[in-house]
Amino acid sequence: MAYNLLKGKRGIIFGALNDASIAWKVAERAHDEGAQLVLTNTPVACRMGTIDELAAKTGSTVIAADATSVEDLENLFAEAQKVLGGKIDFVLHSCAMSANMRKKRPYDDLDYSLLDKTLDISAISFHKMIQVAKKMDAIAEGGSILALTYVASHRTFFGYNDMADAKSLLESIARSFGYIYGREKGVRINTISQSPTFTTAGGGIKGFDGLYDFADRMSPLGNASADECADYCVVMFSDLTKKVTMQTLFHDGGFSNMGMSLRGMTQYNKSFIDENRDENGKIIYG
Ligand SMILES: NC(=O)c1ccc[n+]([C@@H]2O[C@H](COP(=O)([O-])OP(=O)(O)OC[C@H]3O[C@@H](n4cnc5c(N)ncnc54)[C@H](O)[C@@H]3O)[C@@H](O)[C@H]2O)c1
Repeated sequence: MAYNLLKGKRGIIFGALNDASIAWKVAERAHDEGAQLVLTNTPVACRMGTIDELAAKTGSTVIAADATSVEDLENLFAEAQKVLGGKIDFVLHSCAMSANMRKKRPYDDLDYSLLDKTLDISAISFHKMIQVAKKMDAIAEGGSILALTYVASHRTFFGYNDMADAKSLLESIARSFGYIYGREKGVRINTISQSPTFTTAGGGIKGFDGLYDFADRMSPLGNASADECADYCVVMFSDLTKKVTMQTLFHDGGFSNMGMSLRGMTQYNKSFIDENRDENGKIIYG
């Protein structure tokens, strides 16, 4: 059901790779709510993914940009304002990548040049896009900027690796820039902390099936889907949340405030005697 919450608003959505991407669902929902959109991703993702299909479906324009390149971002914000006919009302940062995870480098054996990449793509790109937009005065008064994050920024999750550090930095950037941009232009900056979701990036996390199942059993409302995340993003882009800024907003069915649930305990009771041990009987922690 659509409510015209974004009627007349102009938005830029980063990170729709294919129809499983959270950004894809956000673009569809924002379009349904009346927004005009520019979609963006890296040049290679634009070629290899199916973003053109989404653009056709939502009447959007695709402008390729590597979110780590200030030059690409300057071009993106300039072109998007031309295409959309004015300042931008909302931006979604939905970009992440850990080359350490891809190369199966554990957290206590990180390759530091790959860590630099993880932080640049998954966190510093958020600072870059906000700084570029602010210098160009490309965001409308009272605009809304969002990034997607994960609870591993606050608590340790086996297998989330250097992405946990990237998410902590991402959330910190939302607070630090949220103060400055809010004070000067009434622009809101928040992050949404989403449940595990089956996407290309999600599938790159070690033991993702188990993580998904665990979170679902622990959460009184169950895991939040990508479509439900899109609903929340739309509300955050709308004029209904004008005084919400600098927050990490948990969209996780209640997971982040749980300790143990009946469903979790029931599953644990089935398997706790099969603890992970090596041949000497020592527990394998990860
Ligand atoms: N899937 C999950 O379980 C989950 C949970 C919480 C948060 N998130 C976050 O949601 C966001 C979107 O991920 P997703 O799960 O939809 O997966 P996805 O793989 O569909 O999206 C990740 C996107 O990042 C883009 N990207 C990578 N490098 C980039 C760069 N240099 N410049 C611009 N874009 C770049 C990719 O092309 C891709 O479109 C990420 O920030 C992710 O960490 C995902």
